Amino acid sequence: MKRRTLLKAGLGGVGAAALGAGGTYGWWFSSADIDTAGRVDFSSRLPIPPLAPARRDAKGRKVFELRAAPGEHRLRPGRPTATWGINGSYLGPTLRAARDETVLVHVRNGLREPTSLHWHGMHLPARMDGGPHQPVEPGRTWSPTWTIDQPAATLWYHPHPHGETARHVYRGLAGLFLLDDPKTKPSGPGDGALPHHYGIDDIPVIVQDKLLDDDNQLVESHPRLSEVGLLGDVICVNGTTGPYLPVTTERIRLRLLNASNARVYDFGFTDDRHFALVGTDGGLLPAPHRTTRIQLSPGERAEIVVALRPGERTVLRSFPPDLGMNFMSRRFTGGDDTLDILELRAARTLRPSPRLPDQLATAPALAARNASVDRKFGMAGFAINGKSMDMRRIDFAVRRGATEIWEVTATDETLHNFHVHDVQFQVLSVDGKRPPPELAGWKDTLHTRPGVPYRLALRFTDHSDRTMPYMYHCHVLYHEDQGLMGQFVVTEPDEKPGSAPEGHHHEP
Ligand code: C2O
Ligand code: CU
Repeated sequence: MKRRTLLKAGLGGVGAAALGAGGTYGWWFSSADIDTAGRVDFSSRLPIPPLAPARRDAKGRKVFELRAAPGEHRLRPGRPTATWGINGSYLGPTLRAARDETVLVHVRNGLREPTSLHWHGMHLPARMDGGPHQPVEPGRTWSPTWTIDQPAATLWYHPHPHGETARHVYRGLAGLFLLDDPKTKPSGPGDGALPHHYGIDDIPVIVQDKLLDDDNQLVESHPRLSEVGLLGDVICVNGTTGPYLPVTTERIRLRLLNASNARVYDFGFTDDRHFALVGTDGGLLPAPHRTTRIQLSPGERAEIVVALRPGERTVLRSFPPDLGMNFMSRRFTGGDDTLDILELRAARTLRPSPRLPDQLATAPALAARNASVDRKFGMAGFAINGKSMDMRRIDFAVRRGATEIWEVTATDETLHNFHVHDVQFQVLSVDGKRPPPELAGWKDTLHTRPGVPYRLALRFTDHSDRTMPYMYHCHVLYHEDQGLMGQFVVTEPDEKPGSAPEGHHHEP
């Protein structure tokens, strides 16, 4: 409570002073934006996170081994940075599984403090979710198992320890989890196809911003004026600064993941070329959407297909994102920043790519008229509907089988987004209007502009558990750590929710 008031007073005061007297505050304002357009030296080949090897156990499950541990990583030339990584010094391998496959992941904690691994975007039982109720103690192994039961999508994994997520992700614990779905991918003659050769024409692009000190070490404290926590001025893609990607085919698919703590990116190309947006958080869009920009808040993903001509170069850039905020808040939330991300370098001859399919997937159609429950969520400060996260409080219960409508509104002048565990949702409306094309597919994370109501439809088909909750929260990691989070359980229709398991709270 105290912190929240201070923050509010802090920024409000600065705003007033900058508008009035100027002076020091004016200087802070004018030096708070970042512009690296044309100033990034793209001299490191983009590393591609390796595909995690898997074995089959006697039960036919696909078994992965992951181990989180400290390491040293060359984020940029010069001294290596002390980092954390999974099966390596920074980030983790890409897990891959197909619909109907059962996976088993051994997650070993090689750190000196508890962590967890959450499968962001995955539909699975709450006990396997890797949220704050599934901490992995140092030296221990946690082994969740579940059956993949959702369309092809670009999901990801990252720690979710209560109050510590920002630090754990920032130090390097994150990776992709790609889902394939043989049943829904475009196939057959004339259908076209999406580029799908991992690391060749199907490229993971994990974007993160960092603050590095003169010794190349991660700065972990954030400036007083920031209401969103840490915003970096150095961009890493797949753990490398100044990356370039050699392109060898006519078209490439980029799987963009915003794995940053707080930064919103508005991706496009420096020459404003068009690209096709083909997928979002939970899978492919109904049809490719031709555009020049795609904006992603923390935790969101987008799959785009871009065409190149032989020998040409272009740069993936983040343009100033539309945060829907007043000029003062926007400036201190990265809303005026321009950042060069990744250079694409096409070879002199390019191998032909299949043409883009006209149709990709069936549109979500959770009929709103069958919805049984209407809930409202107001996000402000570090609370949802005035309540901060309490590991022992279950905020509500959802009946298995229900379709619900959730209306989410951020009511203060800062950056929030909204993420739900367990299910992918359909965006029904934005401010009462039809959602834009980029919100036409399945989503699990949504940027919520100040004062704008977003209506979502969610269906809870299975995985009931009356005591183990799923989380919903703001994915600005500082906000989430400060308590902008709630918990719900899925119960059988005739069941009462239980009480949540004892909270595990790690004090640093
Ligand atoms: Cu990506 Cu609850 O988080
Ligand atoms: Cu927030």
